[in-house]
This record gives sequence, C-alpha cells and structure tokens, in this order.
Amino acid sequence: MLVTGPNGVGKTNLLEALHVGSQGFSPRTRVDGQLVRFDAPAARVTLSGLEADAPVETQVTLTRGEPKRVSLNGAALPSSEALRSRLVALVFVPDRLAVVKGGPLVRRAYFDRMLGRLRPALAELPSEYGQALAQRNEALRRVRAGASSLEAVAPWTERVAALGTELDAARGSLVATLELRFAERADALGLMGAALAYTPEPLAAAALEARLDRDLARGTTGLGPHLRDVGISAGPRELRSFGSQGEQRTAVLALVLAEADLLRAERGTQPLLLLDDVLSELDEGRRRALLAALPGGSQTIVTATSPGALPPGTGPPAGHVWVSPGEARAA
Ligand SMILES: Nc1ncnc2c1ncn2[C@@H]1O[C@H](COP(=O)(O)OP(=O)(O)OP(=O)(O)O)[C@@H](O)[C@H]1O
Ligand SMILES: [Mg+2]
Repeated sequence: MLVTGPNGVGKTNLLEALHVGSQGFSPRTRVDGQLVRFDAPAARVTLSGLEADAPVETQVTLTRGEPKRVSLNGAALPSSEALRSRLVALVFVPDRLAVVKGGPLVRRAYFDRMLGRLRPALAELPSEYGQALAQRNEALRRVRAGASSLEAVAPWTERVAALGTELDAARGSLVATLELRFAERADALGLMGAALAYTPEPLAAAALEARLDRDLARGTTGLGPHLRDVGISAGPRELRSFGSQGEQRTAVLALVLAEADLLRAERGTQPLLLLDDVLSELDEGRRRALLAALPGGSQTIVTATSPGALPPGTGPPAGHVWVSPGEARAA
C-alpha cells in the first residue's frame, strides 16, 4: 500500500497513528501529549483489520493529563504493553537510522524491544534488569553517603549478576538467531557481507564485587549488559562510523525485514510493516530490490512524496492513499 502526498501534509502522522493504534505508543516520541493536536484536549485512534483472518479492532485514547486508554475488540486492556504483546507492527522511520549510526544506548533499546517481540516470555527481562541495576546504584550511593552499610549492596549485586547474565545470554541468542537472515536480507538489498556481533558475557557477582571500590566511588555499576553494544558491520567496516547514509538505511531495513521473517517463522505472526520515507536516498536498483523483498503475507504501508518514488516498471501498489492536510483518501 502506497501513501503519497507533498511534504508536511501528514503522511508520517498517518503511519504514526497506525503504530499508536496497533502498538499503543509512538515510534517517534514517548511524550503522548505530542500526539494530540495542538489545540485539542484529546486524540483517539481506532483501527480495524484482520489478524490471521480474524477481525481485530483496537482503540487508543490519549487525553491530556490522563493515562492513556487502550482497548482490543471492545475490551479494555490493562496497559498499552498488553496491546503490543497481541499485535506486532514493525516500523521504519528516518529516525530509526539511529539504530545503526547512533550510540550503543539506542541499539541496546532496539534489540531489547525486539527481544520482547520475538520472545514474549522475556519481554520484561530488560526492565527487570534495569530496575535491579537502579536499586544497586542507589544502594552504592547510600553507602558512599554514609547512610547505609556495604551489606545493603550485596543482595542487589547478586540480582544484577543473575538478571544481567540472563539478559546478556538472551541478547546473544537473539542476535545469533537473527544474523543469518539479516545478512541475507542485507545482501538482497545490495549490502554485501553484513554481519551482527554480540558475544554473550556472563556477569559474575564476583566480577562486580571485584570492582566494588570503583563502583562505590562513581555511584554506578560499571559492568554489565547496560554497557554493551551490538556490532553492525559490512565486511570489515563498522557501519556506525564507516557506513554511507544509504548503507545505514539498508542495514536498518534489513533488520526490520529479518525480524519480520523470524516473527513469521517462530511465532507465526505476520507483522504490519510501516515504512516511512523508505525509498528516498536509495538508488533505483535498491528501491527495486526493497519492493521485491517486501514479505507477501504482511500488509506493508510505504510513504513517499510521489508515486514517482516507485522505480519504473514496478507494478501498481495493492492500494494507493493520497494524503492532503487533515484527510487521507483512496487515490
Ligand atoms: N501535535 C500536533 N498538532 C498539530 N500538528 C502537528 C502536531 N505534531 C506535528 N504536527 C504537524 O503535522 C504536519 C504533518 O507532519 P508529517 O510529518 O506527518 O508530514 P509528512 O507528510 O510526513 O511530511 P514529509 O513528506 O515532509 O515527511 C507537520 O506540519 C507537523 O508540524
Ligand atoms: Mg514524513
């Protein structure tokens, strides 16, 4: 499905609404207030569609100053997380280039969210680790301030070590499962020799104990999966520093497509693919390759400023929506 319209008319807005309606949150901002029209008190997204041939309807209501309300098939859900554990949408927005060219924090967050989508049983692990880490850091600072004894740190050291080992192994296993498909997908998009790298490192309580003095001095834990990074490279080049803009874009798209492959293969889920402005910056051959690579079973929505973004000879899209300010209609 192609969505076109001039700059600034609301194409990204439409994709964002589909993401909010299917996942409960925006891929662009965590501040829900930004999603409400400037002069309006509230916003509501209602989506209906099919999931594995069964009808689904979702509703997400954002009211300024109130918690958001989410419902699925008419029943209220306890949280927006509950929505994303039921429906999967994968998104490419230009900001997502940060997954390749940004700092390690962005990559960790990206792969940890992917972990939640592909291994729902582990969805809470990154935040459980984050909470244990915050507790340990807090305990370190209390000891440093003389408000607590060293014994108060020990239980958190054990917990950080246990959860850290588990999280690191889960990330390692995720990357190992993903890397072949990622390389294949990147290759098909014209990025040769692409690879992911993450070697799990068990986090021993003894290793944390061994650096306790430094951790106490700094008031933070200086070892663990919260400081690690996933390598994304093509041949010998780390794409973060040495990838061209188009190569970085291709790598992010290959990650999205590889994840979609795994969701289908391992969970039997056909994710909704939301690809914003995905054709710009790619040469004609790569645009052609990308369109050919889009998974057949999934609904894919691609935005562009004009249908001319489709390379010559490409068949007509399954649908074409024309966006003008405040309106989206079949072209
Ligand atoms: N909360 C808001 N209330 C009202 N307008 C907003 C709000 N947030 C963003 N906008 C405006 O909505 C307009 C549409 O933005 P959008 O990013 O969807 O355009 P677009 O069609 O994707 O453009 P481009 O082709 O440049 O990517 C922009 O002018 C933006 O400033
Ligand atoms: Mg846009």
